[in-house]
Amino acid sequence: MNQDMNSVVKWGILSTANIGKKVGNAIHHSHNAELIAIASRSEERATSWAREHNIPVAYGNYISLISDPTIDAIYIPLPPSMHAEWTIKAANQGKHVLCEKPLSANVTEAKEMATACYQNGVQLMDGVMWVHHDRTPEMKKHIGNLGKLRKVTAAFTFNWDKVPYNNIRAKPELAGGSLGDLGYYCVRAILWAFEETPTQVYATARYTNDVDFNLSAILWFRDDRIATMDCGFDTALRKWFEIAGTKASLVCDDFTVPTNEESSRFWIHGNTNEKYEIGKSIQEINMIEHFSNIVINGTLESYWTKIAVETMSVCDALRKSAQTDKIVKL
Ligand SMILES: NC(=O)c1ccc[n+]([C@@H]2O[C@H](COP(=O)([O-])OP(=O)(O)OC[C@H]3O[C@@H](n4cnc5c(N)ncnc54)[C@H](OP(=O)(O)O)[C@@H]3O)[C@@H](O)[C@H]2O)c1
Repeated sequence: MNQDMNSVVKWGILSTANIGKKVGNAIHHSHNAELIAIASRSEERATSWAREHNIPVAYGNYISLISDPTIDAIYIPLPPSMHAEWTIKAANQGKHVLCEKPLSANVTEAKEMATACYQNGVQLMDGVMWVHHDRTPEMKKHIGNLGKLRKVTAAFTFNWDKVPYNNIRAKPELAGGSLGDLGYYCVRAILWAFEETPTQVYATARYTNDVDFNLSAILWFRDDRIATMDCGFDTALRKWFEIAGTKASLVCDDFTVPTNEESSRFWIHGNTNEKYEIGKSIQEINMIEHFSNIVINGTLESYWTKIAVETMSVCDALRKSAQTDKIVKL
C-alpha cells in the first residue's frame, strides 16, 4: 500500500455473517476504509447482501474474494473452525486479515495463522472490539493507581432458554462453545490488566451438545495475583470486570460493549467512589480505522497477533483443565 495520506484501504468480507452487518457498517463509516466486496457460499446470498449493504462486488465463493487483486484487507467472520484455513489462504494472497474471535479452534492453528501472516508481511488482528474503545486506555491509566494488583474478576454470559442447535455457537464441529464465544473476552481482559500470562489455570464446565455451555475458572499469576472468570449461554446478560489492588478497585459493568454509545462509564472504588464517563466512541469504527492505518502506513503491529495467540493459549489451557478436571500449567 502506498504512503499517500489520502489512501483508503479496500476491504472484502468473507461470508454474510450477522456480525458482518455491524462491521460492514463500520467500514462504510470509517474515514480510511472502503467496503468493496462480499463473498458467500451462495451467489444469491452474496448478491442480495451486496445490494442491501451497498457493496459493489459480490462473489459466490470465498476463493474469488481473497484472490481479488483490488482488495487490501479481509474481514473474516466465519465460524471459528474455519478461521485458520481462510486466514492462511488470505495471507498467502498478500491480504491483511482482521479475523473474528476466537482467533481459531486451538492455539496450534493460531500459531500457524501468525506464522503465515508474518511470512507474507501482512497484519493479523482478532475482532475483539472493546480494546479499541476510547474508554479502554482511560481505564488502563487508572490501573496504575490501584496499588499492588491482586485480583481480576470477569464475567460474560447471556441466556438461551432453548438450545438453538443450528447456531454456530452450539456446534462442536464448528468449534462452538461459550469459552471461545464469550470467555475469550474475559481472558483478554485478564491479560490486558495483568500484562502477563498465567502460570497455571483450573476450569470446570457444563457441556450440552458436546460444547461447553458454561465455564468457570481460576487463573494464577506471579506475585500473588489471581483471576477468576465465568462465561456461559445459561445466565442473564453480564459483561463486567473488576480489577482490584491493595488501594482501590476499578469496576466496568459493560466492558465488552458500552450500554450507551453516546457515553460510557467505569468506577473506581476505594476510600471514595468515583464514576468516570467517556464521551461518544464507536469501537467497531475505531477498530477498522486503526487496522486501516496499519495497512496504509505499512508498519505492522505485532502486539495484536501476540495477544490474540496468547488469548488462545490460555483458552486451550482452560479447555484442557475443564476436560481433565486437573490444574494445567502454562
Ligand atoms: N467481535 C464481536 O463483537 C462478535 C460478535 C458476534 C460474533 N462474532 C464472531 O464472528 C463470527 C461469526 O459469528 P456470527 O454470529 O455472525 O455467525 P453467523 O451469523 O452464523 O455467520 C457465519 C457465516 O459463516 C458462513 N459459513 C460458512 N460455513 C458455514 C457453516 N458450516 N455453518 C454456518 N455458517 C457457515 C455463512 O455465510 P455464507 O453462507 O454467506 O457463506 C454464515 O453466514 C464468530 O467467530 C463469532 O464468534 C464476533
